[in-house]
Amino acid sequence: MSGKSLRGPAPSLADACQPVPETAWVYLLRCPDGSLYGGWTNDLARRLKAHRTGKGGAKYTKSHGGPAVRLAYAERCADKSAALKREAAIKKLPKAEKEALAAKWTADNRITIRMATPADGAAVAELYNWYVLHGTQTFQYRLSTAEEYAANIAGVLEKAPFLVAITPDGRLQGFACAHPWHSREAYAWNVEATIYCAPDCIGQGLGKRLYTALLELLRMQGYYNAFAIVTGENKASHEFHKRMGFTKSFVEKHSGYKFGRWLDVVYWQYPLRTGDAPPEPVRYRLTEAEVVSILKKVNS
Ligand SMILES: CC(C)(COP(=O)(O)OP(=O)(O)OC[C@H]1O[C@@H](n2cnc3c(N)ncnc32)[C@H](O)[C@@H]1OP(=O)(O)O)[C@@H](O)C(=O)NCCC(=O)NCCS
Repeated sequence: MSGKSLRGPAPSLADACQPVPETAWVYLLRCPDGSLYGGWTNDLARRLKAHRTGKGGAKYTKSHGGPAVRLAYAERCADKSAALKREAAIKKLPKAEKEALAAKWTADNRITIRMATPADGAAVAELYNWYVLHGTQTFQYRLSTAEEYAANIAGVLEKAPFLVAITPDGRLQGFACAHPWHSREAYAWNVEATIYCAPDCIGQGLGKRLYTALLELLRMQGYYNAFAIVTGENKASHEFHKRMGFTKSFVEKHSGYKFGRWLDVVYWQYPLRTGDAPPEPVRYRLTEAEVVSILKKVNS
């Protein structure tokens, strides 16, 4: 008998979630009346939402902004105490200096969405691996390699878009792509959509930009349905898919096991095209002009 195990992955591999590194942020928000509001938080996405909805946000943003406040500056600090000190220092700055901070941050973090190339494999693997180690958004236990993602990107691009969101200095802040849904021919008009934003970048509108472009490109190619498979406990992704126009389709109970617990998965469906007429074959390759026209809309 060979020494190699014929069993699947050992459950122990999925028992321990790597602790998420402590985060602390100071931030500035731009209110619709033009004023800047400063604060600190250990969860930027949740704090931003609280300011926008008025539920748990500051009195100032409630009366000066509401849903229209947007992030104007964010700085990661070592811990809460460092963030509090930095917050106090920023609040003391003259208005012109606060404006300069915000202007530089906005320029440094202007994100462009473009089609990926296999050269993006290392950055995509790094982003994805954060979720492999820390979250149940993915059911993968094993870290992906740069080479695997380079091959994955090349494979996806044969039939569908693979989009990446990049800052001016080349940092990857998110990706979205689509894989064939099933291999049998009758499924040829369906894809499974995937999206991951960098943990520091969630809740700031990037997911919407990436998915808007992805869904528009898929529609142009002639696909009929985009499906998303979302872990039961991933509330952010359920809300996100609902907001993007997906409809909940069905639930698979106890579908996966990770970090010591059983997890459900929920299937979401987005109709890219409707109608009973026979479909045209999917166009695996769009023209450069078609891709540019869609990306222009989400990059302007
Ligand atoms: C899910 C994810 C892609 C969403 O992207 P995002 O950039 O955070 O979302 P956006 O800021 O673009 O939000 C788009 C819409 O979804 C809503 N939304 C997003 N997260 C939400 C949350 N946690 N609660 C409520 N609504 C939420 C927003 O309010 C917004 O609605 P609006 O258009 O009415 O303003 C992102 O959070 C992420 O990458 N999460 C980790 C990885 C993951 O779960 N991937 C999906 C695997 S299935």
